[in-house]
Amino acid sequence: MGGDEPRSSPFRPDLLEGRVALVTGGGTGIGRAISLWLAAHGADLILASRSRDHLEPAAEEIRALGRTALVRPMDVREPERVEAVVREAAAELGGLHIVVNNAAGNFLARAEELSVGGWRAVVEIVLDGTFHVCRSAFEPLRDSGDGAVVNITTTYVETGAAFMSHSGAAKAGVLNLTRSLAAEWGRHGIRVNAVAPGLVEGTEGARRLVESVGRLEEFEAGVPLGRLAKPADVARAVLFLASPAGAHISGAHLVVDGGESVGGKFSGPDEAAGAD
Ligand code: NAP
Ligand code: COA
Repeated sequence: MGGDEPRSSPFRPDLLEGRVALVTGGGTGIGRAISLWLAAHGADLILASRSRDHLEPAAEEIRALGRTALVRPMDVREPERVEAVVREAAAELGGLHIVVNNAAGNFLARAEELSVGGWRAVVEIVLDGTFHVCRSAFEPLRDSGDGAVVNITTTYVETGAAFMSHSGAAKAGVLNLTRSLAAEWGRHGIRVNAVAPGLVEGTEGARRLVESVGRLEEFEAGVPLGRLAKPADVARAVLFLASPAGAHISGAHLVVDGGESVGGKFSGPDEAAGAD
């Protein structure tokens, strides 16, 4: 349901009118799609990641939609910088209602060969970075009276995945952090949820996987809905949870994988009978 472009959205175009959203890693891949979908539904955006060159083109696309887009270079591993960016940008835009923790680092690596620095880089970006952003955003989210955090995890937080020990452990930490913050911040009117994409086509993550194992069709064949997720599929789920449509949802982990993680490999009795 719903095409890839926000103009074919199943949601009302003014769903997020008057809201301000921060998206980390908002200039590329899934984060770019999330930023565009939030802006197309009325939100003003703060885009934050390390590279201004990644952020500016997405900010231009958002401005073309008639919304404000602030570009704020920051490394989520630097808590003081994160704090300054969140406070100053929220003050400049008159508040902060939505935070999407999408920034991440990942690469395929055998656990026994992964250096301490490699482990640390991924855990510090994914888990520590998500914590730094949430912590810095608490006050403006509380003051908005209607705050929403959406953390991007991954389907393998539930299962584990070979060559992803660092990323899987960090993302599992993000899921638990999501639930703990949902329990703690509900009384302040802040909802905290997570979205878990399966493999998303056209992204850096998918490119690296293809480069390493080169079998994207195998992943696709295991998806009951018959295709990989697209960035827009993830963006729609984030929009839903961040908007009033998700008003009483907190602590949820919404999987966006076309059914792959609930047993997509086995298609049914007809195929099983003919498979001998
Ligand atoms: P991507 O385009 O590489 O996105 C990662 C983003 O994080 C980039 O915009 C990057 O921007 C930013 N970033 C990285 N390190 C950072 C740091 N230290 N501080 C601030 N920003 C940082 O990859 P993607 O595939 O769209 O991934 C987006 C999210 O979806 C991630 O959380 C990923 O784990 C999740 N996910 C992806 C897939 C998939 O199949 N692609 C599947 C499941 C989950 P800069 O380089 O400018 O810093
Ligand atoms: N395989 C094994 N180890 C790797 C690696 C790889 N492909 N890439 C980096 N590392 C290790 C480095 O050797 C280093 O470890 P060391 O200090 O023990 O030598 C450590 O990771 C940090 O590398 P560095 O390049 O200095 O880190 P960075 O902070 O500049 O970049 C990364 C962070 C490594 C996560 C980088 O991949 C990145 O910027 N990723 C963002 C985009 C991304 O990952 N997108 C996919 C999201 S799903």
